[in-house]
Amino acid sequence: MVTAGIPHPASDSDVATTFKIVHDHAERIYLWDYERCRTQLVTLYNKAMGSQWNSVADLDWDTDVDPERLVDHDGPMMQVVRLASDEPGSPIASWGDREFTALGVEMFKASISQFMHGEQGAMLTAAKIVETVPWIDAKYYAATQTMDEARHTEVFAKYLDLKVGEAYPMSPYLEEQITALLEDSRWDIAYLGMQIAIESLALAAFGDMLRRTTEPLLRKLLRYVMSDEARHVAFGVLTLKEFYAGLSDPELKERQEFLLDNTLRNRSRSTTPEVWERLGVNLHALMPHLAAAAGTMMTSPYAGFQRGFFAKLVPNVGKLGLLDANRGYLRERWGEAGLLQFEHEADTLSDYDSYDEVAKDRARS
Ligand SMILES: [Fe+2]
Ligand SMILES: [Fe+2]
Repeated sequence: MVTAGIPHPASDSDVATTFKIVHDHAERIYLWDYERCRTQLVTLYNKAMGSQWNSVADLDWDTDVDPERLVDHDGPMMQVVRLASDEPGSPIASWGDREFTALGVEMFKASISQFMHGEQGAMLTAAKIVETVPWIDAKYYAATQTMDEARHTEVFAKYLDLKVGEAYPMSPYLEEQITALLEDSRWDIAYLGMQIAIESLALAAFGDMLRRTTEPLLRKLLRYVMSDEARHVAFGVLTLKEFYAGLSDPELKERQEFLLDNTLRNRSRSTTPEVWERLGVNLHALMPHLAAAAGTMMTSPYAGFQRGFFAKLVPNVGKLGLLDANRGYLRERWGEAGLLQFEHEADTLSDYDSYDEVAKDRARS
């Protein structure tokens, strides 16, 4: 049965496995003012048109990929798991090379799966921005971003399907975070949550994978996706900097609270339980051993990735004026959490110009 174009599920479980309905509370804005008055957004839009790439023609899908050979046995997460297997009473004490390799493949699959789901969330959010932002130059730009995110979703889905294997479901943490952005009545929250927070996280995660992999198809795919993402972050910074300059202190406080909430949640990310489930390991029994192993290493397996995330996020938030609004409310709290060390890292407003791998490849050929 079909109602208003939506396939009607036979049961509640069908809804959970085939699609999710999100109710947006924001107003759609139709504009009559077509004047191109925001020159930096015009430049960014023109750049986006010129840097579109083709997911079929620009990537060599015939590349032979063996996921087992891609496993990074020296990565920080794998080191922690190996240490945990040596712990007395560890449920993975009997593990050998075969099991560690299987874990590596599943972790890789889980990462690409979350990239794919996150990209679909970015596509929906960019489309929401097209509808809700009250500036014509921003609508035009968000339309190019919607296309970029469609391409990103598609290439990660295709890479999983052709080269890696069955996808994992979206992590509940990521799903909750993106759903909240799609439901919010304030148009700028979609920007702040996606362009500033999640895309900084994505740039760090993609960069982390790019540093670790030698697989040529994945490397090119990530380089191209990252070139697009750098523009998306710049779009968020340019728009919100102007918009936040006109907000009242209580309105800015809401945005500061939003960032506090999101960054604290990001810091508590933990091992994907589904990976361990697929491998038949009881994560509850393994957790104390993983924690002890991570303690021995004196660092979190996510430390490098977290650094990459905050090194992008904190300077960008500074550019928006949100660190210092309300007498430094966010500066004080992020300072207590040790995040201000990243304040003077390069912000990503101009990254998109230097990090355009599509243009570099085209200049070479
Ligand atoms: Fe993307
Ligand atoms: Fe993006």
